Amino acid sequence: MTALKQTTLSDLPLSDIDPSVQTRFQTGEHFEVFDRLREEAPVYFHESTQYGPFWSISKYKDIIEVEAQPKIFSSDAAYGGIWIKEQPKDTIRKSFMTADPPEHDVQRKVVNPIVSPTNLHDMEKRVRDIVNLVLDDLPINEEIDWVERVSVEVTGRVLCALMDFPVEERLDLTTWSDIVNTDVDAGTEITDEYKKLEALAPMIKKFKEMFAERSAMPPQNDLISMLAHSQETASMEPQQFVGMLVLLMVGGNDTTRNSISGGLDALNKFPEEYKKLRENPELVDSMVPEIIRWVTPVAHMRRTAMQDIEFKGQQIKKGDKVIMWYCSGNRDEDVIEDPYTFKIDRKNPRQHVSFGFGIHRCLGNRMAEMQLRILWEEILKRGWVIETTGEPERRFSNFVVGIDSLKAIVRAA
Ligand code: HEM
Repeated sequence: MTALKQTTLSDLPLSDIDPSVQTRFQTGEHFEVFDRLREEAPVYFHESTQYGPFWSISKYKDIIEVEAQPKIFSSDAAYGGIWIKEQPKDTIRKSFMTADPPEHDVQRKVVNPIVSPTNLHDMEKRVRDIVNLVLDDLPINEEIDWVERVSVEVTGRVLCALMDFPVEERLDLTTWSDIVNTDVDAGTEITDEYKKLEALAPMIKKFKEMFAERSAMPPQNDLISMLAHSQETASMEPQQFVGMLVLLMVGGNDTTRNSISGGLDALNKFPEEYKKLRENPELVDSMVPEIIRWVTPVAHMRRTAMQDIEFKGQQIKKGDKVIMWYCSGNRDEDVIEDPYTFKIDRKNPRQHVSFGFGIHRCLGNRMAEMQLRILWEEILKRGWVIETTGEPERRFSNFVVGIDSLKAIVRAA
């Protein structure tokens, strides 16, 4: 009897490969797809995928070039927004992330003070207190779920501090953020965008109440008060400020959470690097951006072409969907040396596209880095070694590179 040869990804022509298949992001197989795209067709038109036709931009420098031309490659929800899957128009929460200039710039300015150097400086101590509170609560020599006990707790509590949100209700923020990012094809009860909106009704109610409450109070230094007292938001529809709050909540939650989890996984998969870190704690500064490159918590963003354009020898047509694969740009060997190695002392560790580029570049990048840096500074000060005891449980998603569970043991020195 002759055994049937199993078809592998490398046997398939590119035209038969859909790079958005979510299960490959759970197994890591997606890297193989993007290696081929970068090598064979860095700007490639997939005619048939689960989301219809789209262009894949897979090389670092091409991603930057697309991002640098927001007039040609639009983020506006009216043309398709930033999602690979088309959204029903009546379910879209507009925010500045899904707006082009000038609307984008005006709205971004409203929340910019939250990441001003002064505010970041003030947040430093609060974040350190939060991190220590979370670490103090961890048992030694006992298996824990790192995601639940550390990643969720640190990011949830920091977000409460930013928003002046009741800390005892912090898990609501995590739940809501997860609902927003749920892939409707993941097999959960959230099977479409309408179900998502239904599940988010308590969040919308809560944000509207908080907005009304802060509007009636003198201005404070928290995000909701900042929005409530800004001239620009005063004239906004309630749906718009809720959209802004959702953006800040999701931006500040899931992504940072998954970097905390993915960073621990990386250190355990590269024990030499972990040893180097313990011997040279000052390497935390360059390790943090390396974790963010390595994890690439947001795998892609979408744009829509506003005109016909020749791009890298390809003819992109007005209205075409263009996907910038950050997860691929961050493994581009033309820009990042030895990209499949996690190296905590890279010379230029901030050379990555995890935060995007250009006018939409992540507003919270310094805030995210600060949380990771302080967490690792405090772990190292304690002389702890955190050993993972299994593989991360990865989420079904081609958008958020999510880790839902990661078992670990804290070993004290
Ligand atoms: C935008 C990633 C943390 C708030 C973005 C974008 C990415 C991203 C890829 C889109 C960039 C583009 O289109 O060019 C990340 C990652 C994080 C993180 C990987 C953590 C490791 C945060 C935090 C906050 C935040 C902590 C808030 C405190 C935002 C906002 C935008 C954004 C408001 C929209 C910016 C705009 O459209 O102008 N982020 N983010 N993010 N992020 Fe983050």
